[in-house]
Amino acid sequence: MSDKKAIAVLTSGGDAPGMNAAVRAVVRTGISKGFTVYGVKLGYQGLLYDDFEELTIRSVSDIINRGGTAIYTARCPEFKTEEAMQKAIENCRKRNICGLVVIGGDGSFRGAKDLSERGLPAVGIPGTIDNDIAASEYSIGFDTAVDTVMEMVDRIRDTSQSHLRCSVIEVMGREAGWLALESGIAVGASAIIVKEVPFDFEKDIIERFRERLKAGRQNFIVIVSEGVGGVNEMAKRIEKETGIETRATILGHVQRGGSPTAKDRIIATKMGHYAVCLLEKGIGKRVVVMRDNKITDLDIFEALQMKKPFDVESYRIATEVNI
Ligand code: ADP
Ligand code: F6P
Repeated sequence: MSDKKAIAVLTSGGDAPGMNAAVRAVVRTGISKGFTVYGVKLGYQGLLYDDFEELTIRSVSDIINRGGTAIYTARCPEFKTEEAMQKAIENCRKRNICGLVVIGGDGSFRGAKDLSERGLPAVGIPGTIDNDIAASEYSIGFDTAVDTVMEMVDRIRDTSQSHLRCSVIEVMGREAGWLALESGIAVGASAIIVKEVPFDFEKDIIERFRERLKAGRQNFIVIVSEGVGGVNEMAKRIEKETGIETRATILGHVQRGGSPTAKDRIIATKMGHYAVCLLEKGIGKRVVVMRDNKITDLDIFEALQMKKPFDVESYRIATEVNI
């Protein structure tokens, strides 16, 4: 092992399109600044079980355009123990690693905070299709996921319109309705159902759809966030109570894959570069965020305390326009 200083990068939690672009930016910025750069496989699992690989300028070629994460990701519950964290730090020390970049969601940032507090400076980069990281206006992967949902729903709309049906479609987001909201606006959904906004199924769907059927409308799209669930039951109820033939679709993991959009690649590249600039100065326990449309950084602990109020204004606009 050489005496050269090193940094490491890992992706953790659910993968998101654009994570590869962030990894590439970390690797190339790190190498430009004179660091050896390691990729840690499978997130915190690789940190704990010593699964590191030195990454070179060439080893991150041709990944900017690929979805998923080339260094793999995992959820590693055992990483939360003191013993696991000490083992991870030991694995980094023996490679002269003086800083770590963690690309993931809030859970992953907790690990980065814990490591920073134990002497390994770590910097988080928001990466999740859920866009639910309170401290950042934007999380890598969201733009691609919204586009993917829009494309899938447009396809469902073709068949739904041809049969004069109603389609009830579940989109991802166990804890947050951002993907449902933005994709719902993009497809002009007749209704968007999310956990964050109270919803009266009888009044907001059944009665509204009956009125619109009377006025001549013949098909409907309903977008439901995963956290609400129950699309099969909803479809049956709509069919029974309005008479319109209804189908349910759960989009599933198709939403997490695919080539990242330009926006995701650009933001990921800038955030990856920013994270390494912090580590170069010996700064850790920070999270790179988008605030007022600018890339900046915050203390991870403070970032984790923040709450992200739901965009009820956009929800209201969708309700008024998509009539
Ligand atoms: P996300 O980062 O997408 O929110 P998770 O909440 O599943 O995903 O967290 C990803 C991983 O981060 C966990 O599997 C675990 O390895 C690590 N992690 C989560 N919470 C903590 C914590 N409190 N302390 C240390 N590591 C954590
Ligand atoms: O956090 C991203 C996400 O895709 C959520 O929207 C979804 O609820 C969850 O991950 C699914 O996780 P898994 O890939 O483990 O099924």
